[in-house]
Amino acid sequence: MSSSHSSAPRPLTARRAGPLSGSVDLPGDKSISHRAMIFGLLSVGETHVTGLLEGEDVLRTAEACRALGAKIDRLGAGEWRVYGTGIGGLREPSHVLDFGNAGTGSRLMMGVVGGHPITATFDGDASLRKRPMRRILDPLTEMGVTVVSQAEGGRCPITLRGAADPMPITYRTPVASAQIKSAILLAGLNSPGRTTVIETEASRDHTEKMLSYFGATVKVTPEGHDGRRIELEGRPELKPRPIVVPRDPSSAAFPMVAALLVPSSDITIASVMMNPLRTGLLTTLLEMGASIELRNRRVEGGEDVADLHVRASNLKGVDVPAARAPSMIDEYPILAVAAAFATGETRMRGLNELRVKESDRLQAVADGLAEAGVTYAIEGDDLIVQGLGGAVPGGGTVATHLDHRIAMSFLVMGMASDRPMTVDDETMIATSFPSFVGLMRALGADLSA
Ligand code: S3P
Repeated sequence: MSSSHSSAPRPLTARRAGPLSGSVDLPGDKSISHRAMIFGLLSVGETHVTGLLEGEDVLRTAEACRALGAKIDRLGAGEWRVYGTGIGGLREPSHVLDFGNAGTGSRLMMGVVGGHPITATFDGDASLRKRPMRRILDPLTEMGVTVVSQAEGGRCPITLRGAADPMPITYRTPVASAQIKSAILLAGLNSPGRTTVIETEASRDHTEKMLSYFGATVKVTPEGHDGRRIELEGRPELKPRPIVVPRDPSSAAFPMVAALLVPSSDITIASVMMNPLRTGLLTTLLEMGASIELRNRRVEGGEDVADLHVRASNLKGVDVPAARAPSMIDEYPILAVAAAFATGETRMRGLNELRVKESDRLQAVADGLAEAGVTYAIEGDDLIVQGLGGAVPGGGTVATHLDHRIAMSFLVMGMASDRPMTVDDETMIATSFPSFVGLMRALGADLSA
């Protein structure tokens, strides 16, 4: 078994408290932080990173980049320096690459390794070992990668032997997934031709944006109604560029919903990334009647950002279309909590991908709602929550299944429910949002062991 998260589970309880107030200093975006390390590895010379999320997931990716030959130093809080080897210059790792809980880190790095003639073994914790990797192995195999070994069903631990000259392929992703898209593009970086990824629905575009920022030739064109075609010319020489990591909208979601639900709250969340492929939750909450004001909209580090002013609001139930799922895929657990406090029914459509996240999130959310006395139904891929108009009984203990977002979502619920909510383990919160507990307490939340 991998060493990650051998620490004992730590339960945590959230109790109803007074209004939340103050301003929130969020950590950096997880998606961009992983990619900052990877692009640092793949360019020759020094990449300077500020605002890096120093969560466990990203630190695992940094470790893997080190094992492949990068020299990486931490200069200060969130400030890191990566000396890369460049495309084609990776070294074969001498040990297993242990990604802990991180799906993104492991899948993107499979693409990186797949594009080089080296052999590496990928592993992680009990949650990562359950997650489907065939979606990555299939396109990589088409590119010439050999799957030397794998656990049943295409799961970790997985050993890959990368291709010396990865085949340039055209690949239509079977589900909207930035991880699949990114793994293919990263392998395609060392391909002697053009790699094309077609998505029927656009997923987050951080990889494409960073590829062109580092000097690769990438063409992105619309495909069908909501999709995109991404074409990458292989074997560019990536030039190191400074990276300013914007604040994570998926982490902003937790204080944002907490402030909407706890009566009389009034908070400001500074410098949140507003990339339109990440703002589905904001759109949905505004439709529900949330008081969220976007202030000081600007561009920082190549991304739209804004300060969010959030005030407690009476929410109403809405119908969330499946087409919105890619832009809020990580936010459904916290949306389900908001929906429980809303007036009327909320239907969230097209949640199939939730079943293969850090946990089966659809089931974990449903079980948590039941524990808190909230009525729900699962119909096919849809989750339907019957809102209680502010009066959520609460009072249960939620099984988190090594899933940080389940833990944070139900702690937020406990900040506003009649009785406290306990989560069985808070340790995984450190994978994406290590400052969550301290930051929520500073706003006025009552969280205790
Ligand atoms: C991510 C993509 C998403 C998301 C994950 C981060 C990324 O996964 O759930 O938290 O950084 O590329 P999928 O691309 O598999 O939907």
